[in-house]
Amino acid sequence: MSLKESIDLSKLPNHVAIIMDGNGRWAKERGKNRLFGHTNGVKSVRETAEGCAELGIKYLTLYAFSTENWNRPILEVTGLMDLLLRTIMAEVKTLQDNNIRLRTIGDIDALPGNTARELRVAMEQTAGNTRMDMILALNYSGKADIVQATRTIAEDVKAGKIRPGDINDKMVNDHLYTAGIPDPELMIRTSGEQRISNFLLWQLAYTEFYFTEKFWPDFDREELYQAILTYQARERRFGKTTEQIQGQ
Ligand code: FPP
Repeated sequence: MSLKESIDLSKLPNHVAIIMDGNGRWAKERGKNRLFGHTNGVKSVRETAEGCAELGIKYLTLYAFSTENWNRPILEVTGLMDLLLRTIMAEVKTLQDNNIRLRTIGDIDALPGNTARELRVAMEQTAGNTRMDMILALNYSGKADIVQATRTIAEDVKAGKIRPGDINDKMVNDHLYTAGIPDPELMIRTSGEQRISNFLLWQLAYTEFYFTEKFWPDFDREELYQAILTYQARERRFGKTTEQIQGQ
């Protein structure tokens, strides 16, 4: 039986989040520059998005650029922004054909003007698509997300719209960039690193983590299937005992 056939479609994660790591090392192993790695990472993005949509996964979040990534060499940053722009322009039709909605989390106003503009156009064009949401984390940081949510809630308290005692989990959730998006059940990180790196800090509270040694440009459908199978073999207890879970 193939890996894909082994997947239990009734127990799919609804939301898969991925830290795409190892593009630079993949390129270095081949004696190429880091941008060559990022460019090759785009085909893994395509493979993963198609693989998730085909299976019936409803949300795919990809960590494409963190707030810390601005500290990289300027040529790499401008190269990444340019790659993003070209990829969006080239792939928007594929998104339409596959009924996939493009969304972003993070502060995209701070991206170069043409990249932000093209992203907005693609998001508008795909806004009515319903098969899967592909969410790009761009200029994103989990701490910054919690900070901006806190600020908005504080403004509401100051304006007398709510009282401090009204603040609860749901209210915080509703003010995060991910408002309305269910928390990921599965988080994948490639390249052997085992860290969250300021990704979805609040949203990963109960998420299962899957780490693979593969560099991102080598991540393909089979790797995706393996991650989902590993997730399906785990027991998710949400703080309860095994007996409580089995009795449900
Ligand atoms: C991490 O590898 C990768 C990134 C910071 C960028 C990811 C971007 C892409 C895959 C291309 C564009 C994406 C989309 C959604 C169109 P790294 O550079 O940290 O690798 P290293 O750890 O080996 O140095």
